[in-house]
Amino acid sequence: MKQATLHQLKVFEAVARHNSFTRAAEELFLTQPTVSMQVKQLTKAVGMPLFDQVGKRLYLTQAGEELVKTCRKVFDHLDQFEMTVADLKGLKQGRLRLAVITTAKYFVPRILGPFCKRYPGIDVSLQVTNHEHIIDRLSENLDDLYVMSQLPETIDITYQSVIENPLVVIAPITHPLAQERNIPLERIAAEPFIMREPGSGTRKAVQALFDEHNLTLRVQLDLGSNEAIKQAIAGGLGISVLSSHTLALEGPSSQLTILDVEKFPIERYWYAIYPNGKQLSIVARTFLEYLLTEGREFAEQALTPKMFELSASASRAAIASANAETVREA
Ligand code: PGA
Repeated sequence: MKQATLHQLKVFEAVARHNSFTRAAEELFLTQPTVSMQVKQLTKAVGMPLFDQVGKRLYLTQAGEELVKTCRKVFDHLDQFEMTVADLKGLKQGRLRLAVITTAKYFVPRILGPFCKRYPGIDVSLQVTNHEHIIDRLSENLDDLYVMSQLPETIDITYQSVIENPLVVIAPITHPLAQERNIPLERIAAEPFIMREPGSGTRKAVQALFDEHNLTLRVQLDLGSNEAIKQAIAGGLGISVLSSHTLALEGPSSQLTILDVEKFPIERYWYAIYPNGKQLSIVARTFLEYLLTEGREFAEQALTPKMFELSASASRAAIASANAETVREA
């Protein structure tokens, strides 16, 4: 391995991550023959094959897998070193890799603005994806910090709760159940339902609640996006359960409302997570501190009131309609 170069390790890691020579070449702005050549030379230095090619697919060999882990540790240490040097110079500088679940996209990008302004030397990359993909990224140690709601069961992690992330039942404002209180779960199970895609944490939590009560939801369709689900609800395709934060930007004129259903909201939290034993870089520690102080304050002020306004508008509609009923009865 003494003949292997850092450049070869970078090229190899990119090929392994993308499972493709072509995509690694695109990412690194190299030609594909250059990438192949670098991997060939590295393979020679290791003395064992790093990939198996079956048809068009690439598979890492056991030696390849070990080398990927080693590469990531080496790159992490070098990143840490660069950040330490920047810190010694009195600068907060370096790369921050974040991966967050879909519901946190209503929050994390909003606090990144002021964070990046305060620390202009920090470059941020943000991945927004569902629970299952976050778990994959976490187990491969691809990012510095993760924000998710459901703690992984099989990975040893360090976590801190950020703020509440309750799941609520959302329906069109004109829905007949919109004015009812303490709606039984059975009534929800009887409604056409729009579900998040397999692998989603929201879906898991909803499924667990209805399974616990031996109820089967009438799932009309699966959609892989909170925003698409909101549009489908507004379009009358059914009702759904989503994080209340997905309503953060809806105003009082929203076409959606939160139903008052027994056993809801499903109480959950956003957690900031990283693998146990991982040494957080200076930049990641700076962001974590920011998230738990100013980020938390922002979330409490900017996200919660909108939700209350929305529920309040639902209650106003309920009161108005109850008054109308009273008038009719009179
Ligand atoms: P999801 O995660 O995007 O995987 O549904 C949301 C959540 O778990 O709160």
